[in-house]
Amino acid sequence: MSDTVESASDSLPRHIAVVMDGNGRWANKRHLPRAAGHKAGVNATRTIVENAAKSKIQALTIFAFSSENWNRPESEVTALMTLFISTITAEVKKLDKKNVRVKFIGERERFSDKLQASINESELLTDKNTGMQLNIAANYGGRWDVVNACKSLISAVQENKITINDVDEKLLNSFISLSDLPEPDLFIRTGGEQRISNFLIWQLSYSELYFVDTLWPDFSTADFDNAISWYASRQRRFGKTGQQIKEEQVS
Ligand code: FPP
Repeated sequence: MSDTVESASDSLPRHIAVVMDGNGRWANKRHLPRAAGHKAGVNATRTIVENAAKSKIQALTIFAFSSENWNRPESEVTALMTLFISTITAEVKKLDKKNVRVKFIGERERFSDKLQASINESELLTDKNTGMQLNIAANYGGRWDVVNACKSLISAVQENKITINDVDEKLLNSFISLSDLPEPDLFIRTGGEQRISNFLIWQLSYSELYFVDTLWPDFSTADFDNAISWYASRQRRFGKTGQQIKEEQVS
C-alpha cells in the first residue's frame, strides 16, 4: 500500500488538530517530575502520528508548545526544549521513511540556535514527501497568527500589491498559517479541559470539537479510533439546515 494521501472519504477527517493535554497530571499521579509526563507524551504522539498516517489523514497539527508556555517554571521549559531537540533528532528520519512531510508553525526565532537548526533540517529533509503533513505548532498562538497575517496584509497594501478593497476573508486567510491545507475537520483535546487555549482560533471556526478525559500519555490507538468514529457520526452543516444537507446527500 502506498503512503501517499489520495483516498479520503467524507466520513474521514482530512485534517485533525490536537491539543495534547494532561502530561503534567499523568506524571503527578505517579509522583514523577512533570518532565517525565512530557517524555511519556512523546510515545503517545508517535502512536497518533502513525495511526493518522496509516488512516490516510491528509494533515495532522499538534500543539507542542504555546506562546504562553514560556511562563511555566524555567526547569520545565528547559526540559521541554531538550525533549524537542532529542525527539526531532530521533524521529525525523523515521517520519521521512513513512513519507511524512514535517512543518513547524509559530515563531521559531525565539528558540535556541540548536533547536532552530533541527526544525529547519527536519523541514528540509521531508519537504518533498507526498504523504501526510505533520504540522508541529511550537511557540505558536492563534492570536499571534492573526496579528502576523494582519501585518503581512498591511505590508502588501503599503507595497501597492493589493488595495484595502481587496481585503476579504479569503485574502486574510491566505496569510494565516496552514492556509494551503483544508481547515481542521476535527479538533481533539485530551485531559478533560474543554477549551481551545489560543490554538488555531481562525482555522477552527467550523471544526468538530472532541474532548476526552484521557490524559495525553494514555491516549491510545483505541482512543484515536473512537475520535474518528465520533467524527463520522457528526452532521456538518456550515450554516445550512439539516434538511438541506440531507437533500444534498441524496442528489
Ligand atoms: C500539555 O500538558 C503538554 C505540553 C505543553 C507539551 C506537549 C509536548 C509533547 C507531548 C512532546 C511532543 C514533542 C514533539 C517534538 C512534537 P500539560 O503539561 O499542560 O499537562 P497538565 O495539564 O496535566 O499539567
